[in-house]
Amino acid sequence: MLTVLERGQTGVGELMAMEGAARAVEAPPLAGRAGGGRSDISCRGVYKWYGDSAVIANLDLSVAHNEFVCVVGPSGCGKTTLLRMLAGLAEHDSGSITIGGVPVTGPLPSVAVVFQHFGLFPWKTVFNNVALPMRAAGVAKDEARRRAEEAIALVGLRDSNDKYPAQLSGGMKQRVGLARALAMQPEVVLLDEPFAAVDAQTREILQEELLGLWSRYKQTALFITHSIDEAITLADRVVVMGTRPGRVIDDIVVPIERPRSVASVRRHESYAPLRERIWERLRTTAQPK
Ligand SMILES: Nc1ncnc2c1ncn2[C@@H]1O[C@H](COP(=O)(O)OP(=O)(O)O)[C@@H](O)[C@H]1O
Ligand SMILES: [Mg+2]
Repeated sequence: MLTVLERGQTGVGELMAMEGAARAVEAPPLAGRAGGGRSDISCRGVYKWYGDSAVIANLDLSVAHNEFVCVVGPSGCGKTTLLRMLAGLAEHDSGSITIGGVPVTGPLPSVAVVFQHFGLFPWKTVFNNVALPMRAAGVAKDEARRRAEEAIALVGLRDSNDKYPAQLSGGMKQRVGLARALAMQPEVVLLDEPFAAVDAQTREILQEELLGLWSRYKQTALFITHSIDEAITLADRVVVMGTRPGRVIDDIVVPIERPRSVASVRRHESYAPLRERIWERLRTTAQPK
């Protein structure tokens, strides 16, 4: 089930999201299907064209069951396009994309998405922003209420249950986005630069909260970010994308033990060399040909 709305969407967007949810409900959950309940992500030889130009070419990427992978890459290299294809919101032109061994042909009920621009319904309270997508996905009312209350408490927004998005700071809105994704109890979470729109300090706080939430829920996660620091802080592996066309140019294991904090990651002996390597890869790919 998809719990997203993108920036600027209106009531029509809401209906489309609900429709997407209804479609998603028809598909059986990943557990018990091919892949045996696993939720690994696999892209093999994926191409995406817009008009005459390949935005993504021959992209191979895998995320193991319960692994946290960050994708970094320069602006315009196709990160959002990749995420939308994984979420079943955009089609790929060739190659294969599977989640839990199942080809992605549309939104899956076990996949939640968190976008940069929050995607909250402005006219609904925090509680309803979290609870309504579950209702649309067919979760019973009492269960939806219980899960929404739990997820909202987990992200520290219990006192804001009845507030509207306009009454919240950027950090709080993004917490609502996270709560909404968590409450769906997805097997896979896809996050597209979720912390890019908040200030630096809030961003670090959210990173620590996400580390805590993830250690508790242990979902398969693909997290897109511009920030090398954020990628190293959060990920088991960092995948670096090159540009024109978008493809994977490096794939690096982060050998920093968990539990982590922002400070413990910065102090780790691997931190500086990792940072240097990723930065160097990005610098090379960003150079004009
Ligand atoms: N719907 C679209 N039609 C045409 N071009 C697009 C469309 N969406 C994205 N692009 C182009 O594809 C490239 C990759 O975009 P995007 O995936 O948003 O990159 P990123 O998220 O890495 O910044 C960009 O050059 C962008 O202009
Ligand atoms: Mg993007």
